[in-house]
Amino acid sequence: DFPILIAPSILSCDFAAMGEDCRAMERAGADWLHVDVMDGHFVPNISIGVPVVKSLRPAVKLPLDVHLMISKPLDYLGAFLDAGADLITFHIESESEPALAIATIRKRGKRAGLVLKPATPAERVFPFLPLIDVVMVMTVEPGFGGQKFMPGMLPKIEALREEAQRQGLPLHIEVDGGIDPATAPLAVRAGADVLVAGSALFSKPDYAGAVRDLRAAAEA
Ligand code: DX5
Ligand code: ZN
Repeated sequence: DFPILIAPSILSCDFAAMGEDCRAMERAGADWLHVDVMDGHFVPNISIGVPVVKSLRPAVKLPLDVHLMISKPLDYLGAFLDAGADLITFHIESESEPALAIATIRKRGKRAGLVLKPATPAERVFPFLPLIDVVMVMTVEPGFGGQKFMPGMLPKIEALREEAQRQGLPLHIEVDGGIDPATAPLAVRAGADVLVAGSALFSKPDYAGAVRDLRAAAEA
């Protein structure tokens, strides 16, 4: 059993004060910092890219968990690794060859993960589980913060945890989308151990209280 890790999504931070906002989240007790990269093609939104990761790297000590919602992750892995990404997750539905992209990340000594959109079945990533550190289940359609958690994703989390156990793998299962103190316990009970949360944390005036409430709910 892993300890629960909290990964605030900077998609909901104050972009005009990103460094200070992220440092505040670090002081508040966050475990990872989740960086949502969108290309306006794989998802119908544009967010931030390599230069932001590079600027954030010296601003916080937290591991940078970079979530690539882009069509061709392989073409940008080197740049994100050079910029200071500690973990890179990319979508199984993207155009890049998963095993090659995973190897590219791990050759640099960094952690790699695969992400599944809501319509993608767990089985799609089963062959890759021994090659990755993290599998991430989208619990909303990727592209925007502040959406409602999809409880229909819970069986997928269960199936991934079961398969990881069957294969004897110490795999992190991360959930992304609509996570708050009400939905976190459902995801954790299904087998998740890393919780991404954007609006549920950055919308609160008291970050430490928000991180503590989410962790307490998840661990209950
Ligand atoms: C959605 C992003 C999420 C998003 C989560 O495409 O991948 O990381 O920021 O935001 P909330 O927690 O508000 O659903
Ligand atoms: Zn994300």
